[in-house]
Parts: sequence; structure tokens; C-alpha cells
Amino acid sequence: MKKIAILTSGGDAPGMNACIRAAVRTALHKGLEVYGVERGYYGLVNNEIFKMDTHSVCDIIQRGGTFLRTARCVEFKEPATRKIAADNLKKLGVEGLVVIGGDGSFTGAKLISDEQGINVVGIPGTIDNDLAYTDYTLGFDTAVNTVLWAINSLRDTMTSHDRVSLIKVMGRHCGDIALYSAICGGAEFALVPEVQYDIENIANQIKNNMQRGKMANVIVLAEGAGNETEIAAVIKGIAKCDVKITTLGHVQRGGSPTMADRMLAARFGHQAIEALLSGETNRVIGIKNNEIVDLDITEALSQKKKIDLKLYEICSELN
Ligand code: ADP
Ligand code: F6P
Repeated sequence: MKKIAILTSGGDAPGMNACIRAAVRTALHKGLEVYGVERGYYGLVNNEIFKMDTHSVCDIIQRGGTFLRTARCVEFKEPATRKIAADNLKKLGVEGLVVIGGDGSFTGAKLISDEQGINVVGIPGTIDNDLAYTDYTLGFDTAVNTVLWAINSLRDTMTSHDRVSLIKVMGRHCGDIALYSAICGGAEFALVPEVQYDIENIANQIKNNMQRGKMANVIVLAEGAGNETEIAAVIKGIAKCDVKITTLGHVQRGGSPTMADRMLAARFGHQAIEALLSGETNRVIGIKNNEIVDLDITEALSQKKKIDLKLYEICSELN
């Protein structure tokens, strides 16, 4: 293999830039020619492909987002569109493709590999940490740290005013952002989609907390675990308290990546190139017990993500 390309796809995540840098520099170091694809599969189909050198990835390790940009490209679900994309790579002589994204992006990568013979390697880049085969995805650590910053600030003002803070965080169907930030931020409650909860029971616990003098209570609510307005109404009705809702939104997707995400980025990017050079295709990179692993895309996607119930128990017992 002499030439490879790299793209970012789906929602952006802090650490994507650091990972692009790691993959590009590793590939150049090993004598490969490297191309960047702008706007994910959209750019692959529309030929937004440019040659990269070592300077192309200068001054990006610390930046959130992805300088290659990203997009959601519905047309890529069509085989004819994937053929156009593959032809654009073949015209340049590119044989290997690194895809940084989530499970949707990996599905697209597998299809273009199976149908068009492009060697693909996926790197998990999403703040959601919703892929079962890897302990962590790129961007999760930074997103949780952003939530922690918000919890700290909200706790200050909620304590001053004897209020309840209901903080809605991202994660799609996965409660990891909520659970990790609740444990590390000392929140009283974490509401996640994977575990059923009884909001009246929680409201009564808050009422008891207030009766014994604990006036400020923090609840971290994962998206997909309930409606914040309805939850706040039940708590207000039972605990007779002031509940302030804060939806953190896309602030969680940006920001300078943490040390943990930069280290993951370096290790994932490096391993992706080694996998391509050893002739592998349909592989995804991950981390298990602090060891970098790579496994078949289909096998990786067949694993079902579960919440860590031990962590959930810890969260409940520490509140
Ligand atoms: P993520 O990669 O974060 O899960 P998406 O699910 O939005 O994000 O997928 C990103 C892109 O991957 C989509 O816009 C599309 O181009 C491609 N993709 C997703 N699912 C498929 C699929 N079933 N077949 C082909 N391409 C897909
Ligand atoms: O997958 C990352 C994520 O931020 C999810 O947590 C969230 O549900 C979704 O993307 C938001 O997508 P968009 O940026 O398209 O609003």
C-alpha cells in the first residue's frame, strides 16, 4: 500500500484533530502518501480530496472539532453513491481509508470495503462512548470534563439559592456521559436510559434531603432518559422546591481535548496506520484494559453496549 486517505464522519468529537495528526504523521513517517477528505463521505462522493503533508496537521493537536470538517451524508447508504466515492479514491491510487466516526460511519466503511475493495480501518470518534467493543471513544473524556465544569458552576449558584439543578447532557441512547459526570461531579442523582427510575421516589428523596438541611441537589439527566420539563414539574410538586433546568447541548462537543483524549488520539491514529500497512481491512481500533486492540467491524458492531451497573451502584450509594 502506497497511498491512504483519512476522513471524519458523523458528529464531531474533541480529539479528532489530534487523531488526524497522529494518523497523518505516522503514515508519512512510514513512507505513505496521504490524502485528506473534507466533510466525511459527502466529500468522498464530491471529490473534496487534497494531498496532505506534515505541515497540513500543524497547530491542530489542541483544537476541538475537526479541521477536515464532518457531515452526515444520507446518499452514502446507496451502493451507486459508494461506487462514485470509491472511484474518486481509485483515480488517485488510494487503497486505504481511515474513517474516524461512530457506528454509522463504520457501517459505511465496511460497505465500501466489501463492495469496492477499499481497505478500511475505523477509529471510534464520538463523545457518546456508545460502542461496546471499546472501553472509551475519542472525545468522551473531554465531554465529561466539560459537563464537570458546568456541574461545579451550577452547584455554586444552586447552593446559594437552595435550588435543585437538573442538568441535561448528551449521549443519544447511551447514559455514560451522565453517569461518569454524576459520579465525578458528586451529583445526587443520575438518570440514564439504560436503568429505569421512579421520579416520584427521587422527588421524595430530594424532599427528605431538604428536610435534613441539604437544600441544593444536582440531577444529571441523560438525553433519552426522560423529558426535563416533566421531571422538573414532578419534583417541584412533591419537594416544593425551585428546580432550574440547564441543557448543556453542543458545548459538550467542543473544546480543547484533555490529556486522556490526546493520548487515545495518538495511540488510535498510530494503530490504524499499522493495521492498514499489515494489509488488514474491515478493522476498527479500540482500547480494552488500557491495551490498544483492533477487531473486525462486523464483530465490533454486533456487540451490544451496556451501562456499567457497578458504576451505577457506586453513583447511587455515594449520593
Ligand atoms: P456516527 O458515525 O457518529 O454513528 P451517523 O450515524 O450519522 O454518525 O453516520 C455518519 C455517516 O455514516 C452517515 O451520514 C452516512 O454517510 C454513513 N452511514 C451511516 N449509516 C450507514 C449505512 N447503513 N450505510 C452506509 N453509510 C452509512
Ligand atoms: O453523537 C453525538 C451527539 O452529540 C449525540 O450525543 C447527540 O444526540 C447528537 O450527536 C446531536 O447531533 P447534532 O449535532 O446533529 O444535533
